Parts: sequence; C-alpha cells; structure tokens
Amino acid sequence: MGMSDLYGPSDEAESIATIHAALDAGINLIDTGDFYGMGHNEMLIGRALAERNRDEVLISVKFGPLRDADNGFNGIDTRPVAVKNFLAYTLRRLGTDHVDVYRPARLDPNVPIEETVGAIAEMVEAGHVRRIGLSEVGADTLRRAHAVHPISDLQIEYSLVSRGIEDEILPTCRELGIAVTAYGVLSRGLISGHWSRERSERARSGRDFRSMSPRFQGENLDHNLELVDRLRSVADAKGASVAQVAIAWVLGRGADIVPLIGARRRDRLDEALGALDVELTDADLAAIEDAVPPGSAAGDRYNEHQMALLDSER
Ligand SMILES: NC(=O)c1ccc[n+]([C@@H]2O[C@H](COP(=O)([O-])OP(=O)(O)OC[C@H]3O[C@@H](n4cnc5c(N)ncnc54)[C@H](OP(=O)(O)O)[C@@H]3O)[C@@H](O)[C@H]2O)c1
Repeated sequence: MGMSDLYGPSDEAESIATIHAALDAGINLIDTGDFYGMGHNEMLIGRALAERNRDEVLISVKFGPLRDADNGFNGIDTRPVAVKNFLAYTLRRLGTDHVDVYRPARLDPNVPIEETVGAIAEMVEAGHVRRIGLSEVGADTLRRAHAVHPISDLQIEYSLVSRGIEDEILPTCRELGIAVTAYGVLSRGLISGHWSRERSERARSGRDFRSMSPRFQGENLDHNLELVDRLRSVADAKGASVAQVAIAWVLGRGADIVPLIGARRRDRLDEALGALDVELTDADLAAIEDAVPPGSAAGDRYNEHQMALLDSER
C-alpha cells in the first residue's frame, strides 16, 4: 500500500527492488488493493513479477472502494456486477490470469455479503480466483460469508496496540478454520521505533493517512511514543529493534496469524525479516505486556468517519 498511496512519497525503483528482495528471502504473499494509487500498486506488482515466476507468489487483492481524480474515497461497491468488473481490470493490471485471494476491502452496507461472496465464488468456479478472503468484518459477517463459500482468511488490523480481535473475531475465525492476515503490525509505523513527532509534522504536509489518524496527533502521539520507549527497553535487552519485537509478538500469536509487513524499502525489509530470529520467552512476553498493556494506546485506529465503515467495530 505504502509503495503507491497513503504514506507520502515513495520511490518506484526501490519499491520493485524491495519486492524482489522479499521474494528472494522466501516471502510468498503479496497483498494489494486495486484502489492503492488507483491501480498503480497492481501495475507495480505486475512489473516486479514480470521477471519472476508468478506461480511462486500468492497475490491477495482487495477491491470495492471507489475513488476520484482528486485522490478522494467515495464509498464502496461490492455488487456482483462490480466484482466482475473490478476483477477484470485487476487481472489485466497484474498481468496474470488469476488472483490467489480476492476480497472486498470493506463490508458494503448496501449489498448482502452473501451476494458479494457468491459472485466471487463464481469467479473461483471460472478459474479467475483461487480463494476468497474478507477484510475488517465482524463475527456475524464471517459466519454468513463462510456459509456461502469457505473463507480462507480475514485481513484485519492486529498488533500490540490493536488487540480488538481477541475477544470475539479471532475465536470465531479459529472456530471456522479461517486464518488471519494481520495488517498494521507496526501500527502503520507508530510502533516501529522509527516514528517521531517530527515525522508526524512531515506527514501533515503530504498525502499521508497518518495526518488524519487519531493515534498520530497531539497528546495521543506523545502518549503512544512513550509506549514505544517502554517497548524499546524490552527490545534493547533482547538485542533486537522495536519493530522486530512488535513483529515477533504478532508472529507468536499463532501459526494461523500471518503478519503483513508494510516495508517499502530494502532496509526496512531486512529489519522486519530479523524478527524471524527473535524468540520471545514467557518472561519477554510478560515484559512486553507490562510495557504495552492491552488497550493502552491513545486514540482510535481510524478517524470517526472511517471507524463507522468498519463492520469489525460494530
Ligand atoms: N485491509 C485493510 O483495511 C488494510 C489497511 C491497511 C493496510 N493493509 C495492508 O497491510 C499492509 C501493511 O500495512 P501497513 O503498511 O499499514 O503496516 P505497518 O507494517 O504497520 O506499517 C508500515 C509503516 O511502518 C514503517 N516501518 C518502520 N520500520 C519498518 C520495518 N522494519 N518494516 C516495515 N515497515 C516499517 C514503514 O516505513 P517508512 O514509512 O519509513 O517507509 C511504513 O510507514 C499494507 O501494505 C496493505 O497491503 C490492509
């Protein structure tokens, strides 16, 4: 996402080099959305994979959000006819004949989930899609969707500072045999150890999601950076970085939880991969919980308008 949209400027050559480095390191899941840069991200991935064996990679694509020429967001459309239209464009932009996991980015309040999943199931039948996923939906929607066609995974925010799924959504996924692809593992950079008040200032002058995110503002930011300092003490004691501890924590929550990491440069990728070597003992986990107790982050994970679009928060 950050290679094409929402996190300020990025470097295209470095983005492609990062995707290649990820594949070389054995990463085999790439997540995108057709609306990330209005198709830019899919074309970028298509270019990166043109020199590689596409069948060694699972491509996960989100669809539905409607955009405009001023970079705005204008709601969502997951009607069956829209599903087929979005998918046709996606396949062409990616330069592939199938998407490995296809999912609506948000629940469309005007379309029963059964109709959307039914339409994707037709695309599975036709060979254009391999698996069906969901994003940011709650337990009831998961059950209704899963009754139409098996759901492979729920993509949802999950990190040390966003543990909302633990009460109901994660147990429901586990009951139904649905995996979780966790995003925002670094809380969009906030708990990466590389964020600062100065970066929040810079985000304000560019097109950056973080300029509108409650967690990155004013007193909330001060409080949240204090949490990061506490986490840094745990990380220092382990000889790891803050980002590595935050990633290792999510990795340790279960084999059915796959972290999506938003690295857009090779140095960030290298750091993230280092998390695979960080083993957290029970004492480490206790120290981490003590540093960042559940619910301790200040501010919601989206602004009020965006929160209202989340079925997972109902
Ligand atoms: N389903 C959904 O609603 C949804 C929502 C958001 C994202 N996603 C998916 O999840 C993916 C990851 O989300 P995200 O980008 O918000 O997650 P993230 O990994 O929590 O945050 C990425 C941010 O952290 C910074 N960072 C600092 N150190 C890093 C390190 N070692 N490794 C990686 N990043 C580091 C990045 O760097 P710099 O800024 O310094 O480059 C970037 O700004 C997205 O690409 C997208 O595919 C899905």
